[in-house]
Amino acid sequence: MKFTTSLLTLAGLASLAIASAIPGTAELPSCGYKNYPTGIMTFKGTIDGHQVQLNGSAQEINTQMTAKFPGFNPDALVAAKFASRDAAVNLFARNKSPPVLCWPVAGQDWSFCNAATIQDGINYLDNFDGLCGVPGTTCVRISCSYNAAIYLCNDNAYGITPNCAYMASYATDIINDCVFYDDQGNAYVCGQEFDTDGYNIIVREDSC
Ligand SMILES: *[C@@H]1O[C@H](CO)[C@@H](O)[C@H](O)[C@H]1NC(C)=O
Repeated sequence: MKFTTSLLTLAGLASLAIASAIPGTAELPSCGYKNYPTGIMTFKGTIDGHQVQLNGSAQEINTQMTAKFPGFNPDALVAAKFASRDAAVNLFARNKSPPVLCWPVAGQDWSFCNAATIQDGINYLDNFDGLCGVPGTTCVRISCSYNAAIYLCNDNAYGITPNCAYMASYATDIINDCVFYDDQGNAYVCGQEFDTDGYNIIVREDSC
């Protein structure tokens, strides 16, 4: 595949915009999937040993955690997990419905985003030991920073609460299958992966 440098430069400039609103206070962009509304993710579980129930993307929840628990440091958690290699690997029984769809995804106008930023979101979600909730026929942003988003979209009529780190593993699949590089070696990604349980994960450029 060929990508023009100017297009990639534009994407890079767009990613300089700054994050990020408190959940519920800002108009969320459309998820661009089946005209579903964009809702707010609910999280119920344990982060860094704290049992919490918080809402928003991983980054928004990290901000709330930092306010709530002095000393909470999401980047230190990520570093600690990488330092102990066993803990860094989340293993799940796969229930995925391949193949992964990569940019350009047919029928969608989604743009690609920085793969390293998506990886940061995956690393945060790996420390969310609990359930990521999404209402029925709705998408929620489980991660969004520097204009790179991971969406969880629910095709079921009812709400579901899958495991957060398991949702992040779909984004890992999308990076593995869809990543491409510009001539400076910057990695970009956009794609979608479905699960047989009626939900899917989208990785794409977005406003945040
Ligand atoms: C999170 O959202 C749930 C469901 O909408 C709500 O009941 C709860 O009060 C919210 N929690 C916080 C901390 O905002």
